[in-house]
Amino acid sequence: MSIAQSNALRPEFQAALHEASRFFETPFYAYDLESLRNRIETLQAAFPSAEIFYAMKANPRLGLLRRFLEWGLNLEAVSLGEVHRAYRAGFQRTEVLLNGPVKTPATLEELAEIGIPILGLDSLADIRRVAQILPGSRVLLRVNPDLPISTHDHLATGRGESKFGILPEDLGEALDVARKGDLEVLGLHVHLGSALSRPEDYHAGYEVMRQLYLQHGPFEVLNLGGGFGLDLNPAELAPSATALAKAFDAELWLEPGRYLVAEAGVLVTKIWGTKRTRRNFMLVDAGMMTLLRPMLYGAQHPILPLYTGRKTETWDLAGPVCESGDILAKEVRLPTPKEGDALAILQAGAYGSSMSSNYLDYPRPLELLWNGGEWEVLRRKQSWESLFADEL
Ligand SMILES: Cc1ncc(COP(=O)(O)O)c(C=O)c1O
Repeated sequence: MSIAQSNALRPEFQAALHEASRFFETPFYAYDLESLRNRIETLQAAFPSAEIFYAMKANPRLGLLRRFLEWGLNLEAVSLGEVHRAYRAGFQRTEVLLNGPVKTPATLEELAEIGIPILGLDSLADIRRVAQILPGSRVLLRVNPDLPISTHDHLATGRGESKFGILPEDLGEALDVARKGDLEVLGLHVHLGSALSRPEDYHAGYEVMRQLYLQHGPFEVLNLGGGFGLDLNPAELAPSATALAKAFDAELWLEPGRYLVAEAGVLVTKIWGTKRTRRNFMLVDAGMMTLLRPMLYGAQHPILPLYTGRKTETWDLAGPVCESGDILAKEVRLPTPKEGDALAILQAGAYGSSMSSNYLDYPRPLELLWNGGEWEVLRRKQSWESLFADEL
C-alpha cells in the first residue's frame, strides 16, 4: 500500500498563509513546523532502531536544523559549506556524515581544523586522498549497486553508469586500500537515487547489500541512504531494512531528505498579470531562480490558489526570467485571477530554497516558519548589499 500524495495543507497553516500572503512581500517560502515534526516522528516510529541522517541539501535553514537536532536527527552533508553549517547549527562532528564524489585537499585540510565528520568515500581516489591527509578517519564506502533504478536520469544515482559509488566487483580492492591506509571503515553505504516510488528498487538494493555484507563483513554500520519519494511509504520498507541490519548485527543508518521536508513547505507567489499567446499564462513573481525543480527535472508541484474566482481555465505559470523554460507549472486548472492575487506552490520544502540562485541578480527570497502561533523569520529576503558584497 502506498500513501496518497497529499496535496492538502493543514487548515491552520493554510489560513496563516492567506494572512501572510497579504502581509509579506512575495515570493516567499513558508514552512509548517507541525508538519515537519509529524513527518519526522512517522519515520522515527517506522524505524525505531535507525539513526537518521537528514540530507541537509534538501533544506539547510539553520532554524530548521536546530529543531532537527532537538528531535534527535543527525545530518548528511555533501560539501564543506554544509559541514560548516551543520556545526553552526550545533551538531557534533560524530553527528555529521560528509558524502560527495569529490573531496579536494583544501576541503580535507579545512576539516582537520574545524572537526572531521564521518566521511562517506566514493572512489579509490577519494579513499587514497583521505588516507593521506586525514589518516585515522571514520569512513563509510559508498557502493554503486549497478541497478536499473526507475527515476529521472538526473536522480538515479544507483545505476551502473552513474558517477557515484564503487562497483561491487571493485569493493574488495577499495576496502584493502582503505584499511591499509589506516582508515576506520564503519560500513558500506548505498543511495539508490531520489524521488523513488517503487519499493522493488529498494528491495533490489538491499539484496546487493546483503551479498556484500556476506562477502566483506562484518561492519558496524549499514547505511541504506534516502530517496523516498512522496508517493512511497518508507514504513513498507522498514521490516526488510531493519531485518537486514539485524542479520549482520549492524546499526542501520538512513539519509532521507525530501520525505522529511517537501510537504511541509510551500512557495507563495503573486500574479501580476495574465497573457494569452497560443497558451494562457499567469505572470508570477517567482521563477526558476526561486524554484528550479520544474525546469531541472520536469518536476510537477501541485498549485493551491489563495484566491477565488468564478471561471476556471487552464494556465501555465510563467516566471519573470528571460528564458522560455522559466515555467513553474504547466496546464493547471485555476480560477481567473485579479492582479495581486496569490498562489501557493505546494511540496516546495525540499530542494526549493536550497537550489535557488541569484540568477539575474534576483535576491534570495524571504523564508518563514509557522510555529503554530506566529511566523518566525528563518531567513530575511537577501539585501542588495549582501548580493554585491564579495565583488571587488
Ligand atoms: C548521498 C545522498 N543521500 C541522501 C540524499 C537525499 O535524497 P532524498 O532527498 O531524495 O531523500 C541524497 C540526494 O541527493 C544523496 O545524494
